[in-house]
Amino acid sequence: MKVITSVSAMQAEAESLRRAGKRIAVVPTMGYLHRGHTSLIEDARKRADVVVVTVFVNPTQFAPHEDYARYPRDFDRDRRLSEEAGADIVFHPEVGEMYPEGYQTFVEVSSVSEILEGAVRPAHFRGVATVVAKLFLATKPHVAVFGQKDAQQAFIVRRMVRDLNIDVEIIVAPIVREDDGLALSSRNVYLTPSERQRATVLFRSLRRAEERIRAGDRSVGSVRREMMKILQSGEPTGVDYVAFVAPATFQEIQKIEPPGVLIALAVRFGTTRLIDNTLIQL
Ligand code: PAJ
Repeated sequence: MKVITSVSAMQAEAESLRRAGKRIAVVPTMGYLHRGHTSLIEDARKRADVVVVTVFVNPTQFAPHEDYARYPRDFDRDRRLSEEAGADIVFHPEVGEMYPEGYQTFVEVSSVSEILEGAVRPAHFRGVATVVAKLFLATKPHVAVFGQKDAQQAFIVRRMVRDLNIDVEIIVAPIVREDDGLALSSRNVYLTPSERQRATVLFRSLRRAEERIRAGDRSVGSVRREMMKILQSGEPTGVDYVAFVAPATFQEIQKIEPPGVLIALAVRFGTTRLIDNTLIQL
């Protein structure tokens, strides 16, 4: 497995693979890989001849008060896990390589970047869209694999690709969870043992919502109240949102109806923010 750190070397490699008729898949990550990430790499492996994993903690998607500096990093481990999961290339640029002196170009997917995660983290999705576009231009993929864990991010990447006519197929792979339902996340390492245990309320509230909806409850208000009871039982520091959106538009809905609903939530334990979601098809 190769490790490439410069954009020009990555582009040259991708170009020569394309000329040789190879199909390229990319899995963008911020590293500190876990089974959620490796499931994406394994998925990518089935879809292409060459799998590129990108490991880059992207400063432009963090607000000044957020955890950019303390975001967990362990490149040797990421390299090993990428290789074990089937990667052929790890693209691991320095910050100055991606954002050199004088950098001033950004990609903005407008309205959908302002709600939910975007309401709490105003410049976040501008940073995500920008870096994903740059990673696509560096790795020249035919296909890219993202996780449903970050449902709004996946929606925004799809929107960007459509709006800018970027010729990359976007795959969204299922959420990988711990045995007790907690979605795997690089940020779970911030949780104290007590918070880690209480954090199971996220998944339990989503499961309860699904039960209610499958049993015929079509009221956003009543399903949300049930979820809030479960969430509050975990004594979180705060619930940022419990949102019911139409999967096709990411617009909030008033009534649960076919073809279904995506329920997304963000909950804080101490200074750690956890997100989760479930897609319920009707
Ligand atoms: P990161 O948080 O490292 O996540 C990389 C990819 O892994 C994302 O597509 C995310 O949705 C997916 N992922 C994370 N946890 C998962 C889980 N439990 N199950 C399935 N997939 C999971 O998302 C980012 O990095 C960045 O915003 C990035 C897209 C790389 C741009 O910087």
